[in-house]
Amino acid sequence: MIFIAKEIQTAAYLFASILFILSLSGLSSQESAKRGVLYGIVGMIIAIFATVLGQGVEGHVYIISAIAVASVIGILLARKVEMTAMPQLVAILHSFVGLAAVLVGVGSYLDPSTQALSGAEHKIHLIEVFAGIFIGAITFTGSIVAWGKLDGKIPSKPWSFAGLQMMNLILLLACVVMGFFFCKAEGTEGMLYLGIMTAIASFIGIVLVMAIGGGDMPVVVSMLNSYSGWAAAAAGFMLGNDLLIVTGALVGSSGAILSMHMCEAMNRSFFSVIFASASLGTRTGEKKAMEGEVTALNHEEVAGLLKEAKSVVIVPGYGMAVAKAQYPIHEMVQVLQKAGKKVRFAIHPVAGRLPGHMNVLLAEANVSYDIVLEMDEINEDMPDTDVVMVIGANDVVNPSAQDDPGCSIYGMPVIEAWKAEKVIIMKRSMSAGYSGEDNPLFYKQNSEMLYGDAKVSVEKMLTFLRN
Ligand code: TAP
Repeated sequence: MIFIAKEIQTAAYLFASILFILSLSGLSSQESAKRGVLYGIVGMIIAIFATVLGQGVEGHVYIISAIAVASVIGILLARKVEMTAMPQLVAILHSFVGLAAVLVGVGSYLDPSTQALSGAEHKIHLIEVFAGIFIGAITFTGSIVAWGKLDGKIPSKPWSFAGLQMMNLILLLACVVMGFFFCKAEGTEGMLYLGIMTAIASFIGIVLVMAIGGGDMPVVVSMLNSYSGWAAAAAGFMLGNDLLIVTGALVGSSGAILSMHMCEAMNRSFFSVIFASASLGTRTGEKKAMEGEVTALNHEEVAGLLKEAKSVVIVPGYGMAVAKAQYPIHEMVQVLQKAGKKVRFAIHPVAGRLPGHMNVLLAEANVSYDIVLEMDEINEDMPDTDVVMVIGANDVVNPSAQDDPGCSIYGMPVIEAWKAEKVIIMKRSMSAGYSGEDNPLFYKQNSEMLYGDAKVSVEKMLTFLRN
């Protein structure tokens, strides 16, 4: 087997770190996102080779076999997964990072060479192991619950009770006490305390995510992303691998920044979401009953409205992703633009199930970026808009977020579709959005439902618009 010198490995790690930073900066805009992904892939290949070929690494047959099997599984999964199931895939992948950190921690603790350490070096290593397993266990179980919630296997409604925060605090203190005994234990006797702490941290992970309501899930997804980064960084400390520390810190801090942006977009406090109190804190009093009558139009009538409109705003949501309606929507936009109408998209920061979900889908369908506007950029234009087409969106246009303190998404900024002259809501039924909240927009006087699958509906309207 060929081994590379330590200096070459360090240089390769440095190069890979730079590629990871370039990757993150590339991912910050749609134009450069593909390049960002490519930097990440190249960086990861360099990182894996530099590590596997490093001095002192043994069992190459096992490592290469594991990489080959995992790569095949990864490629098959990535090719098979539907765009709508991407968030679940991301959540379950985060859980693997958490589990890896737990296993690395246990392995590192039982390793005879680390057991032989003494003095401050030994204590620091024990703290690294303890912290790494703690973060890893929370990430592992929390991500599994997030996967269940995103996949619809676990109800998205928040699971909580009055003493939840107190219980979390007591569990946290119990972990600190276990940490104290763990650091005092001789030899491998600390396994008992490590085991108890792992069980408690795993339970905390479940409780933290179970307590978050559907509307706050975006923050949880990005927070688990951040946790998985910190878990990887902790594993890097345990293994003495600088690249893993750098990569973990990059993922951890970028995930934390994204979580803060998400909180800002949803008008939530970062700490209240971390400590699972967002859904509890905002809900006060009884929910308002729905008032008004729901009326519906057919495809020809909606096409007629569009023909008469001068300005049209399209608000896409998760239903657009489910229906894969972005392609006929793009065609419809071109037809309307050719007829001299001003057409724009209004994108809510948490529309869909992934950060930037709608932007990715619209970019995939070649929709020009300059007509895709953020919620804050377009909300003030709503009163001057003739027709707003809400396509497969629900929570992001729910007026209760502004005026019903009894609603779980109360306080979240929303797209003020109801301020337009006419609102067309395209969905299959009257069912609630991801938060489980009913939507009074459907009952407003200027609103009309257009029932059906979003893609089928847009295609039908296109035939009328072309005629
Ligand atoms: P939702 O509130 O989930 O509403 C989507 C609507 O699409 C549903 O009411 C559904 O109604 C409709 N729909 C589903 N399939 C359809 C189809 N084939 N054709 C037409 N309509 C269809 O979506 P939203 O407005 O985008 O809001 C996103 C929600 O997800 C927010 O609560 C957000 O907090 C949460 N969330 C977001 C993220 C991120 S990071 N974006 C992550 C996790 C959770 P019908 O069944 O009646 O058709």
